[in-house]
Amino acid sequence: MFNFDYQSGTKVIFGRGVVDRLGEEAAEIGRKALFVYGRESVKKSGLYDKICSQLKSAGIDWIEHGGVSANPMLSHVQAGVDKARDAGVDFILGAGGGSVIDESKGIAAGAANDADLWDLYSKKAIPSAALPVIAVQTLPATSSETNQAAVATNEATKEKFGLRHPLLVPAKAFLDPELTFTIPLKYTAYACFDMMSHMLEGYFTSTADFAPVHAGFTEGLAKAVKESLERVLENPEDYDARASIMWAGSLAWNGIANAGLEGAKIPCHMFEHPLSGLYNVAHGAGLAVVMPAWLEFKKHEITAKIISFGEKILETKGLADAADEIEAANLVIAEFRSWLKRIGCPGNMTELGVGNPDISKLVKHTRILSGQWNITGYSDEDMAAVYRLCI
Ligand code: NZQ
Ligand code: ZN
Repeated sequence: MFNFDYQSGTKVIFGRGVVDRLGEEAAEIGRKALFVYGRESVKKSGLYDKICSQLKSAGIDWIEHGGVSANPMLSHVQAGVDKARDAGVDFILGAGGGSVIDESKGIAAGAANDADLWDLYSKKAIPSAALPVIAVQTLPATSSETNQAAVATNEATKEKFGLRHPLLVPAKAFLDPELTFTIPLKYTAYACFDMMSHMLEGYFTSTADFAPVHAGFTEGLAKAVKESLERVLENPEDYDARASIMWAGSLAWNGIANAGLEGAKIPCHMFEHPLSGLYNVAHGAGLAVVMPAWLEFKKHEITAKIISFGEKILETKGLADAADEIEAANLVIAEFRSWLKRIGCPGNMTELGVGNPDISKLVKHTRILSGQWNITGYSDEDMAAVYRLCI
């Protein structure tokens, strides 16, 4: 295992009705907030009214920054930075899914640094400070509520980059599983697949000979997400299943799964971010198209890991009868594709809504990410081959 620093800085406040404690908890952080939210879900669900009344009763002033899009755009993050600076807010309060929380973190960094905002995202500048962030998570998927990352797309270039810094870990996160009852089932499936990918990519790419803690964490959590999702698809208001997904969503990408794990990388995310940057597709849906294609591309290199994924997580039948290991890996990939279809994820670019992908542009964007994320070993032709397997 490699040496690592792990620090969990977020106070997670989890369970039914926890938003009733928002006012008192927020008052410990500051007296003036920028309240960030998305397009409509917080108003429809009544969460917006609840938050306003919490802030009011705790004597906290706020200004609003609504309309965050799924896949946040740089200009909208910049508008939030301008509001936060003009009003001199003490903290950023984001209520929504990963996009809202990511944008809140981008604003928190942008407002506290003189650097150009896109320079922070493109790693040309490093934040030296950030305003505190409070997150009210309504769509568990990204772990944004407990991690260091914030993703945004530059609409001028369509580049989608992630800003990562320990200063961006939210101070407090409110996780009420009942707030997730209203997530449409297809988004619930995309979200569950995103959190599974956050763990599985390290599982597939690790070069460790012996990593039972990491393998056990990923196998246990991925299986738990799969089982819980299957229950939610039957009954969207199954509290314990929604709660299990919500907690797993926070744990999957907050630094635990890959801490010290030799070689662990996130190649499927490297292929997906250009897709959602260029074509504005849902991140989890993009991953569902990319990962089976990437497994197909890598099946001769990581055969044993694919089989182990089939045995321990998918519970693929017939593996013992396969003629050889490659046939077993093929069975797992086929079962994986049919499971993704059963839960409502797209199976190829067309189903994803990208009828005519511009592969050379996708490769260009992927090449930039491979440098930023230090993912080596892919020629341009390899990258194009993975995208072709997605068609
Ligand atoms: O805008 P509103 O009306 O709120 O609707 C949202 C949005 O349309 C809706 N929604 C959220 N909570 C809901 C709900 N609808 C009904 N009931 C609720 N309780 O769902 C839609 C999608 O929301 P979004 O926040 O975009 O989804 P997600 O949480 O999947 O976030 C995706 C973004 O996070 C980035 C992705 O790239 C993408 O930009 N990621 C962030 C990461 C991180 N911070 O570490 C890592 C990830 O790998 C990922 O890259
Ligand atoms: Zn993701």
